[in-house]
Amino acid sequence: MTATKELSGEAALPLVVRPSVESDVPAMLAIYEHHIRDGQSDLDAEFMAPDPLRDDDIKRRRKNMLRRRLPHLVAERGGTVVGYAYAVPFRKRPAYRYAVKHSIYVHPDHLHSGIGRALLPMLVEACTQEGFRQMFAYIDATNVASRNLHEAFGFRLVGVLEGVGLKFGRWTDSVLMQRALGPGAGEPPAYSRTT
Ligand SMILES: CC(C)(COP(=O)(O)OP(=O)(O)OC[C@H]1O[C@@H](n2cnc3c(N)ncnc32)[C@H](O)[C@@H]1OP(=O)(O)O)[C@@H](O)C(=O)NCCC(=O)NCCS
Repeated sequence: MTATKELSGEAALPLVVRPSVESDVPAMLAIYEHHIRDGQSDLDAEFMAPDPLRDDDIKRRRKNMLRRRLPHLVAERGGTVVGYAYAVPFRKRPAYRYAVKHSIYVHPDHLHSGIGRALLPMLVEACTQEGFRQMFAYIDATNVASRNLHEAFGFRLVGVLEGVGLKFGRWTDSVLMQRALGPGAGEPPAYSRTT
């Protein structure tokens, strides 16, 4: 599942997308925390109290996801983690076991340099390979970069959640974007998932 893509700039270092390993967690956490402070993620900075357990928490969650065969990828350039993307169950109830939602984050120093464009299709492919049939993203309605990226990879707008978030004291809207994976709802599942 590893892919390599040549990019211009950044000394033309190759961008490698690969499954994450536990030692990637601190780098992923640093990227995540930046975007929380930035306000376009689904968490509010006011909830970002210093928490030394956060690292372990992410490690535990990552292991849980891997046990459930949910893809968890990083993009690496020149030995530095410059982005990551992962899928989680869309809902916990068994009826929804063929649907995932996902998150994608790119390092603040590497935005709009093709990392999302490399990560997202790899995540779509990995989820398809695992037999999932629908993929969803909840995106802050003002997050044009994410909306454009998802649209470029076959996601379409299926809903607007009005006033669903409270960030920095303001109510915010989210959009829900969806794409089918493989045959989508056109065929029964190829094999049975229990979770
Ligand atoms: C959204 C995000 C993942 C996009 O990744 P990226 O590596 O910056 O995007 P890429 O360089 O691969 O660009 C892919 C496409 O996304 C769109 N895009 C990226 N940055 C954009 C920007 N600043 N404004 C408008 N569109 C943008 C464009 O359609 C772009 O295609 P193009 O290069 O042909 O213009 C990244 O901006 C990010 O991590 N943002 C903060 C965290 C976040 O919002 N995550 C998503 C939560 S749902």
